Order: sequence, then structure tokens, then C-alpha cells
Amino acid sequence: MNFYDKLDQAMASFSQHKGGFLTVKDAQSRVNTMTISWGFAGVMWGVPHFITLVRPVRYTWELLKTADSFTVSFPFEGMDEALRICSVESGRDIDKSKVVTFQDAKSVASPVVAGCDFYYECKINYVDAMHGDKVPEAYQKHYPEKDWHDFIFGEIVEIY
Ligand SMILES: Cc1cc2nc3c(=O)[nH]c(=O)nc-3n(C[C@H](O)[C@H](O)[C@H](O)COP(=O)(O)O)c2cc1C
Repeated sequence: MNFYDKLDQAMASFSQHKGGFLTVKDAQSRVNTMTISWGFAGVMWGVPHFITLVRPVRYTWELLKTADSFTVSFPFEGMDEALRICSVESGRDIDKSKVVTFQDAKSVASPVVAGCDFYYECKINYVDAMHGDKVPEAYQKHYPEKDWHDFIFGEIVEIY
């Protein structure tokens, strides 16, 4: 499967459905997932990458600091309640394994969310911080707390 197969459906699940699940396992084997609906799939350094955007206040970001991978699980339809809970509750407060079922990934340590329609497994290659002063005025409204996103570049090593 090419990395851009089903890319239209993946991006539609971000823009028209209720998002996807970003799942991370850290160096201490802590696992968490959160809902995401912003992100990019494309080519970097000649190989497919998915770039996820995570604010430093997220528990998921704390796990990403020592993780070497993440996965993105896309439900093209359904799973609305799990997506909602994972978008308002933090893994600091609840155990998300009671909300979704984690299942081993094929090639990376971070698991995927069972029952989704499409998956990326990604090896973290690069992390950079957004420069808040360069964000256009029209989009500053997204950062009342000045909690600018980090960009986490994941090389897509499995797609199914
Ligand atoms: C539709 C939707 C999409 C979201 N996308 C993102 C995202 O791309 N990046 C981000 O940092 N937070 C995003 N969030 C917020 C997180 O999902 C939310 O804060 C979550 O509770 C964080 O969980 P955690 O603390 O366990 O990491 C989104 C929320 C919603 C409702």
C-alpha cells in the first residue's frame, strides 16, 4: 500500500469526522492516546512522514519526550464516544485503556487503537517547536494560553 492510499479518507476523518487517535508508549512503557484532528502526511528526506502537532500541556506530549514512536489510528466512521472522551479527558486523570482497546502495532513499540479503519505506525525522527510570534494574526486565537504546538515528525514505517 502506498502511503497516500486512503489519504483522502484519513484527512476527511480529521476535517469532517471527529478526528483520529494519536497513541504513544514511552520509555517507561506508559501508554496513552488522545484525539487529534490536525496533522500532515507527506514526504520528508525522501521518505513518507506524518507530522503530528501536540501542545506541551498534553500528557501525550510528556510521553512523547522519551518515546521513539507513535501511531495514528483513523476511524473513518463511528467510535464517536471514544473520540470525544479522548479529546476532553487527560491520561493524567483517567486510564484510556478503559476507553479504547490498545493492540500491539506491527513494527513499533507504541500500540494502535483496535477497531479503526486505517493506521500509520511512525518512528519519531525529529521534533521542533512552533514559533508563536510567526503564527498569523488570524490564527493567534487558537493560543490564548500561548501553548504553541510542537511538531513531531514520524517516519511512516507501516500503513494498513
Ligand atoms: C477534535 C479535536 C482535535 C484535537 N486535536 C488536537 C491536536 O491535534 N493536538 C493537540 O495537542 N490537542 C488536540 N486536541 C485536544 C486533546 O485531544 C485533549 O486535550 C486531550 O484530552 C489530551 O489528552 P492527554 O492529556 O491524555 O494527552 C483535540 C481536541 C479535539 C476536540
